[in-house]
This record gives sequence, C-alpha cells and structure tokens, in this order.
Amino acid sequence: MSNLSRRNALSLGVALGLASVASAVPAWASAAGTDPWWVWDDEADNLVAGLVDSGQVPAVNTALRPWLNNGDPLPAGLPAGLAAHLQQANRLPSWADRAKLRRAADFNRRKDTYLFVLYGLGSGIMSTVIPREARSVYWSAGGAAMQDRAAKTFTFGYDLSEQNAFEPSGQFVVTASKTRLVHAAVRHLLPRSAHWRAAADEQVPISNGDILVTFHSLGTFVHRKLLEWRVPMSAADEEAFLHQWQVAIHLLGVRDEFIPQTWAEADAQSARVLTPLLAPTTEGKELAEDLLGLTAQIDLGVTRGFLNEFVRYVLSDAVGDWLGLRRDYAAAVLVRTGWPAYIAFREGLLPIAPAGFFVFDQFLRALAMLFLNKGTSPTSTPITIPTGNRPG
Ligand code: HEM
Repeated sequence: MSNLSRRNALSLGVALGLASVASAVPAWASAAGTDPWWVWDDEADNLVAGLVDSGQVPAVNTALRPWLNNGDPLPAGLPAGLAAHLQQANRLPSWADRAKLRRAADFNRRKDTYLFVLYGLGSGIMSTVIPREARSVYWSAGGAAMQDRAAKTFTFGYDLSEQNAFEPSGQFVVTASKTRLVHAAVRHLLPRSAHWRAAADEQVPISNGDILVTFHSLGTFVHRKLLEWRVPMSAADEEAFLHQWQVAIHLLGVRDEFIPQTWAEADAQSARVLTPLLAPTTEGKELAEDLLGLTAQIDLGVTRGFLNEFVRYVLSDAVGDWLGLRRDYAAAVLVRTGWPAYIAFREGLLPIAPAGFFVFDQFLRALAMLFLNKGTSPTSTPITIPTGNRPG
C-alpha cells in the first residue's frame, strides 16, 4: 500500500469517527516536519517483498547463514539487489564514535547482570503490553514458537552487549542488518494475515515510530531503571550507552532525524509515545504467559510467584494486573526490600550481605547463563527471514 493510500485510510477512519484509528498513536513530527508513524524502510521493504513473492527467501536464508562477523565479506550467491543493499547498509553510520562504542561495550560488561534482568524481565515483558508489537509478534510466524523467538531476540541483545560488538570481529552489525530484513518481510507478510488485520489498528506494521517505541522499552527504560536503582554510572558511561543504541536503531533503518540526541530527549519522547500506548491485549497476555512459562523449562532457582512479583516490581502493579500475574505477597516483600539492599551490597555500599542475598544471586546467575547461552539452545540460533505468518 502506498503512503498516500495509508493516509487516505487514516483520514477515512477519522471521518467515520473510528476513534481506535484516529487516536491509536499520539501525533508526532520531527523537526523537519516528518511523521515517523508514516515512515517505513522503502528500499529494504521493496527488495524483501520481491524476494518473498518470487520464493527466493529460503535460498537467501541458506546463503546468509554463515555470514556472522561484521568484517566478513558478503556471502556469495545473494541476489544482486540484496547484495547491493547490504553493501551499503551493513556499515556504521559516519557519525558513529568508535571510542564511545568501546566504552559502551565495557559498560555492558561491567553492568551485565543488571542489564540481563532489565532487558529480560523488564523490556521483554513490557513488549507484551505494547499493543502493536504484541499483535505483530503474535500473528507473525515466530509468535507460534516463543521459545525460539526469545532465543533469537537474545541473540540481538547478546551481540549488542559483546565487548567487540561493533568491531570487525564482532557480530552486531550483521545481526542488525539481518533483523532489518526480517522486519521488511514482516511488513509485507502481516497485512496478508486475516487475524492480524482484524486485530491491528494500522495497515503496515513496524514503522520508524514503532521501532523508536521499542527502543524506549529497551534502552531508555533500562537507563532510567539503572538511575532509579542507584547503580553507579559515570556521565561518559551514560552517553556511551545512549550512543550504542543510537547506532543500533540507525542500523535497523530508523532515519537519523528521528533519533534522540540526549537521554533527556529520549525520556521526553518515551513519555509522549510509549507510556500512553501501553495496554493489555489478548495476544500480549498469551505472549507474556509463554515468556514467563519458559522458566518451567529453565530453572531460574526461584518460584513463579517470585518471578511474577519481580515483574510487578520492575514494571508496576498496573502492568502485573493487566497480565493477570498471580500475587505472592511473601515474595513481594522479599523483592521490594531485598533487591535494593542486594544492589547496594553488590556495589559496595552495604557492609553485610542482606537477607535474600543468595536467592537474588542465584536468580541473576541463572538469568545470565540463559543470555550467555544465547537462550535455550547451546548453539547460535540463526536469524532467518520468515516466509509466512503464524499458521491457523
Ligand atoms: C523480528 C529486534 C522492533 C516486530 C525481530 C528479530 C529481532 C528483533 C532480533 C529477529 C528475531 C526473530 O526472527 O524472531 C527488534 C529490535 C527492535 C524491534 C531491537 C527495536 C529497537 C520491532 C517492532 C515490531 C517488531 C517495533 C512490531 C511493532 C517483529 C516481528 C518479528 C521481529 C513481528 C518477526 C518474528 C517472526 O516471525 O519470527 N525483531 N525489533 N520488532 N520483530 Fe523486531
């Protein structure tokens, strides 16, 4: 669908008084007057739509599989248009600052346990109460296999957190380029899902605006929580952490004019376009249950009640209630009093190990193992371009 007909559909919704269409997302315009809700990734989208329609995706996935390191040459056998796109897209933007990226990598290593818990249980569960994201994920092919999808998403976080993420020997740039192709395929495929069309408030998913919203549920949220939890960070660390995310969202195809320049700008954008959008959906509730249920198979050393209360602590009781997370009041007390003390002890601000120390310690270790093993599979889970939607 062209931009023009997308706009017509929106105007029609407004004219008919379809509040869900008219008020689905807050108004948004960049300094240049462009609206990120109406920007997708034209070049990659057209290219990947062609690959899907001509049945070339399985061969492309096979060719892309061994291509992992940033410094690797492009694999042989790619269609010419795709090779040309990757040649141009698979590189750092001119404004990337390698010194900042190296500092970010070091910061990620120093704070890894907090990052695992915040990305995994904070951002991961928050994605299920971002309606557009929850519906896209649920009705795409990956929605039917959440364990595998979670493992692939871990790959993104893991590659981003590696010491050499942006260096030629690292893998993050390639992972981001592959993810950009996956998103392009989803934009072409989801509009063909009758289920998604019935549930969604938009015609084409994963706009630049949506990617920024997800960034706020990841980077902006984690940064704010680290401050709230009084985890020591220098100004240079904070700036480097932002820079790493600026580069990441550029690589995912977000236009530079939309990318926040400071944490203050990111916080303001998040308050405007993420917070008011949060809401429960049938799809999101099921996804959250799938994600939290993964612990039945992976022993995190804590009860489901503890996990529910940890999510409530990190994301609020409102979100916990939306997702129907059963209360465990004893665990709630342990989390709310023990966690701040645990952080203070770890950071050298408390002389004696607090009550519950071992529970938290074991929990963090188990979460770290989960990430470091790239999810549940001991081998790397390749990111592949989908060829269809969720069956059924
Ligand atoms: C796929 C990361 C934004 C929906 C993926 C994958 C990664 C990823 C690593 C590949 C793994 C897989 O195939 O499952 C990200 C990051 C984002 C972002 C880092 C922003 C910072 C979004 C947004 C949406 C979305 C805004 C929807 C509103 C999807 C869907 C898939 C996908 C539907 C494919 C699932 C499948 O069928 O396998 N994303 N994503 N993503 N993403 Fe995103």
